[in-house]
Amino acid sequence: MGRPPRLLCCLFLTLSLAAAARAATRHHEWDISYQFTHSDCVRKLAVTINGQTPGPTIRATQGDTVVVRVKNSLLTENVAIHWHGIRQIGTPWADGTEGVTQCPILPGDVFTYTFVVDRPGTYMYHAHYGMQRSAGLNGLIVVAAAPGGPDAEPFRYDGEHSVLLNDWWHRSTYEQSTGLASVPIVWVGEPQSLLINGRGRFVNCSAMAAGACNATHPECAAPVFAVVPGKTYRFRIASVTSLSALNFEIEGHPMTVVEADGHYVKPFVVKNLNIYSGETYSVLIKADQDPNRNYWLASNVVSRKPSTATGTAILSYYGGRSSTRRPPPTTPPTGPAWNDTTYRFRQSVATVAHPAHVEPPPPRADRTILLLNTQNKIDGRIKWALNNVSFTLPHTPYLVAMKSGLLGAFDQRPPPETYAHQGYDVYAVQKNPNTTTSDGLYRLRFGSVVDVVLQNANMLAANNSETHPWHLHGHDFWVLGYGIGRFDPAVHPATYNLKDPILKNTVAVHPYGWTALRFKADNPGVWAFHCHIEAHFFMGMGIVFEEGVERVGQLPQEIMGCGKTKGGH
Ligand code: C2O
Ligand code: CU
Repeated sequence: MGRPPRLLCCLFLTLSLAAAARAATRHHEWDISYQFTHSDCVRKLAVTINGQTPGPTIRATQGDTVVVRVKNSLLTENVAIHWHGIRQIGTPWADGTEGVTQCPILPGDVFTYTFVVDRPGTYMYHAHYGMQRSAGLNGLIVVAAAPGGPDAEPFRYDGEHSVLLNDWWHRSTYEQSTGLASVPIVWVGEPQSLLINGRGRFVNCSAMAAGACNATHPECAAPVFAVVPGKTYRFRIASVTSLSALNFEIEGHPMTVVEADGHYVKPFVVKNLNIYSGETYSVLIKADQDPNRNYWLASNVVSRKPSTATGTAILSYYGGRSSTRRPPPTTPPTGPAWNDTTYRFRQSVATVAHPAHVEPPPPRADRTILLLNTQNKIDGRIKWALNNVSFTLPHTPYLVAMKSGLLGAFDQRPPPETYAHQGYDVYAVQKNPNTTTSDGLYRLRFGSVVDVVLQNANMLAANNSETHPWHLHGHDFWVLGYGIGRFDPAVHPATYNLKDPILKNTVAVHPYGWTALRFKADNPGVWAFHCHIEAHFFMGMGIVFEEGVERVGQLPQEIMGCGKTKGGH
């Protein structure tokens, strides 16, 4: 290095001082309660934040500290809130994962989440207790890049809009989870409606009992997105669906994909965007169509055979001759064929890092974990399992158990690293006997590089394999590759993209396919890694990683107080 080190050091010092001077603290006070809502015009009890579903958007600038004081006013129900996509560096106890990083917040209690949003981008938050996310507790986190910093956007736009996509059921999460745990299973079924920014339209409203559905309720009026002719807009799109994979389209307006899960993408243009639960994207659109009419925003179910009407909203031009709320003169886009896996696979493969923002992955892994995703039966109950182990959450959060040396709090045997992949036919209906449940976790060497290959397969029903969006807490991972069919450790690693893989926190595993990802175990804490389909995680589709727990500082008292405690049980 030719440059005198002293100069470098002073430069960094000045930069970080400047950043510190800019950083702000964003305070939020949230009261969580049940309210009667009309998200799709049908009256439903929903879990709300300050009376609203979705909750308020958290806006901050990179480097800010976010403080959310959560009061649980649910009366008879626990709560925990996860900040999806925020890595919680140095604050693993603020991840909001009940059973992993904290005890649930009891009715009447207050819990304060404090964390730094260290990277710009589009993120979300949602409940992480039981299947509570489906009950309406969700919202967006939008972090602006530090002005003039190295993470400034490599693209320009004149204005921005946010789109939060969801699916919606009329049954309560209690009915849903009880059904899932019953013999025979009572499956949750397809959603009644698809919501855009918490609003939808149940198609059979008029057939419902008087008072149950009100088609003109203001809470279910179609959202309107207004644009100025000629301008370019950034649409931040996030999916918090419980089940559905979605395809999102803005009629007549091709989208340039520029961000995925808080990372800049090498731009590519799509007619419509496939988005899985837990993913976020930013796209740019140009408002260059006839301003005298309105256009549909449309969300359609893909990957599962749809039986839910298209979710819609309205794009309207300022100064055009159409009134903003008038439905467009066309029928809403219906998206691609629901079972066109190749179409969705291509978009996955096309999502790579922006050339000016490539963070190259470590060239090799220290450890590879190969996870077979199957549906299995245990005691007659249908479960999801990884390498024939179906995950259950312990009552004592791992973080508390491990820091306090409560060895009996969870299964100390590590779950399997691989499965008998050589002879395994992923297209066949497999019996997968000897499936067990476990709350054991994977302990990772601090600082090591870990590869995870997720292998999809046929479910219990013949000719059936679903898409699973896998989400990792506490990290972003490099997406090294995708394939269809059986992953062969002797062949496929040679095809990995080590040049410009995108960093993400949620990634799809396509039907009968595999997805390979790599991350650095460098964030001290205990982190969940699971399918983001609420019912699948509930049925065991998840694992937990621990790394560097000995480096975690003193735990806040308020995350404790459940399950096993020192001296008690
Ligand atoms: Cu967005 Cu563990 O989930
Ligand atoms: Cu799944």
